[in-house]
Amino acid sequence: MCGIFAYLNYLIPKKREEILELLVNGLKRLEYRGYDSAGVAVDSAASKDISIIKKTGKVALLEEEIKSRSNELDVSGTVETHCGIAHTRWATHGIPNEVNSHPQRSDPRNGFVVVHNGIITNYKAVQTFLEKKGHVFESETDTEIIAKLIYHFHEQHPNYSFRELVENVVQQLEGAFALCFKSKYFPGECVATRRGSPLLVGIKTATRLATDHIPILYGKEADSNPEHRPHGRGEFPTLPRTGSTSEFEPLEDKQVEYFFASDASAVIEHTNRVIYFEDDDVAAVKNGSLSIHRVRRGGDDPHKREITTLKMELQQIMKGNYDFFMQKEIFEQPESVINTMRGRMNFENGTVTLGGIKEYIPEIKRCRRLMLIGCGTSYHSAVATRQLLEELTELPVMVELASDFLDRTTPVFRDDVCFFISQSGETADTLMALRYCKLRGALIIGITNTVGSSICRESHCGVHINAGPEIGVASTKAYTSQFISLVMFALVMSEDRLSLRQRRQEIITGLKNLQHQIGEVLKLDNKVKLLAEDLYKKKSLLIMGRGFNFATCLEGALKVKELTYMHSEGIMAGELKHGPLALVDETMPVLMIVMRDPVYNKCMNALQQVTARSGKPILICEEGDQETMSYCQKSLEVPKTVDCLQGILTVIPMQLLSFHIAVLKGCNVDCPRNLAKSVTVE
Ligand code: G6P
Repeated sequence: MCGIFAYLNYLIPKKREEILELLVNGLKRLEYRGYDSAGVAVDSAASKDISIIKKTGKVALLEEEIKSRSNELDVSGTVETHCGIAHTRWATHGIPNEVNSHPQRSDPRNGFVVVHNGIITNYKAVQTFLEKKGHVFESETDTEIIAKLIYHFHEQHPNYSFRELVENVVQQLEGAFALCFKSKYFPGECVATRRGSPLLVGIKTATRLATDHIPILYGKEADSNPEHRPHGRGEFPTLPRTGSTSEFEPLEDKQVEYFFASDASAVIEHTNRVIYFEDDDVAAVKNGSLSIHRVRRGGDDPHKREITTLKMELQQIMKGNYDFFMQKEIFEQPESVINTMRGRMNFENGTVTLGGIKEYIPEIKRCRRLMLIGCGTSYHSAVATRQLLEELTELPVMVELASDFLDRTTPVFRDDVCFFISQSGETADTLMALRYCKLRGALIIGITNTVGSSICRESHCGVHINAGPEIGVASTKAYTSQFISLVMFALVMSEDRLSLRQRRQEIITGLKNLQHQIGEVLKLDNKVKLLAEDLYKKKSLLIMGRGFNFATCLEGALKVKELTYMHSEGIMAGELKHGPLALVDETMPVLMIVMRDPVYNKCMNALQQVTARSGKPILICEEGDQETMSYCQKSLEVPKTVDCLQGILTVIPMQLLSFHIAVLKGCNVDCPRNLAKSVTVE
């Protein structure tokens, strides 16, 4: 998904070279989000104009392009105050090419340039309006209208401040966006805003910040008469002016650097002091001071935005000794599962505390049903834990793909408890499903990995899975941590149930042993690699299982598809006779998960049905289960744990398998084609 990075230095002399490096480096940190082209805009060396450098493909190519233009860019020149904006684009409107890349510009002289994450849904109407005014569009993007619209307002109102112009622009935009603007008419200034897409600013000063918050300044709403929003007919209305520079509350009057970014991974190496913007905040830096402005909407508007101190460390987001982020993240799981349980599981006295939802437990216990909603891997973590949640809460549990849930306009009631599971906390479908349920009065619980994300902020309460930053587009450690978070929730819900005491205790013991057992599973790495060598030239892989391990089949197949572009299907073994069996012959690669759990005999039936059709399944089974292994030529043995946690141990060989196949096929492990880490559009 698109990434925004902007850097503003105020009264801090920097070589242009340093600034460009800093911008490119910021983009590199955002690469994991997925993108197909990149660009930067900086002040041009020779004049007061803005230079835009864009390139299709990887950030490294943009970096080369910048180097090849170093004379023109006067990279050894120094600037005391400067604003540069940069972007990685994930194509939505128009193919990935240089014209469609961002920054987009207002006119051939680059009066205003903008970078955008999200989608503008009413861009056609605004474009028609602007075309009638004589603006000539050069790209196929929805973003270009933003650059041209701000220019239009500037021409109409030459006295408006940069921030006021942006406020007027966002009044006209529909859809989701995070935006960062730069302008040759406002040198050394930067204005940023968001609605529905994430954005934050990192603040770096030589001395400690004098404040821990930024006051919010309110303006007046525009005339809301719908007649005044003609999109294509007549003029756009403009907001009443709210004042000039004097309204700016100086944060720090000298020597300050600002880093605007889509997420903290691009900022953390510079500063750990950040402000997460909320929808409709318009943040402006002028004369080195940051102000946050809002057009007044309701009575309970906040008065300030807190400056948050990030705890994340840079090394957490670097690859360490691994070749790929995904590989690192798979091997981090012995620690990440511990981090998920830290301070929550008390193994000595068998208690579980989830601080983030503690106060809500009585209310949750009174609910009519639980709904677990997510996309992709996060959805699979709901599938994986549904059975245990039903068992320990005795409540009906619905698991839902966020997109389908919204399509169905599913009935939701005040006494429903809705979980929104999302690694990034920004997935558009999940976030919209959250808002849909919140409107209907349900209790909203966020299960996310990203502190400060939209889902975190908009939930009533929640559980941070604490898996640490996940950079690889294909989710791995977040899955096991989501799984454990939901198991802990089930344990909390059943703490006073005497009849479940023994069951709870075996689960708690299972959780305690997980770290060691995951370590054991990871030792299968070489064996899994050999299997990958057999499989990587095949066209398809069927993954079968049922009960507590069905989710592993879905998640395993998703990993294989995402990473290796090979067809793969997770098949509920109980459905074999209803169709999938027709696919089985001696050439079709099949992997089966058969554990000694309550559905063992049913799984063995399925296994025999497959072998009877000359299928040669690869087995994932319990360590030492010679009897089951005697039916297959190849098997991977994983340690036994309690049935409801077994899926954590069976999914890891699938993560490793998809990883090794991807490497053998020469696929891009960390950024698979066409995919993005954080899908902030529907
Ligand atoms: C994308 C990612 C997946 C992820 C899904 C949901 O498709 O590639 O790895 O599972 O989004 O993301 P979320 O951040 O909501 O868990």
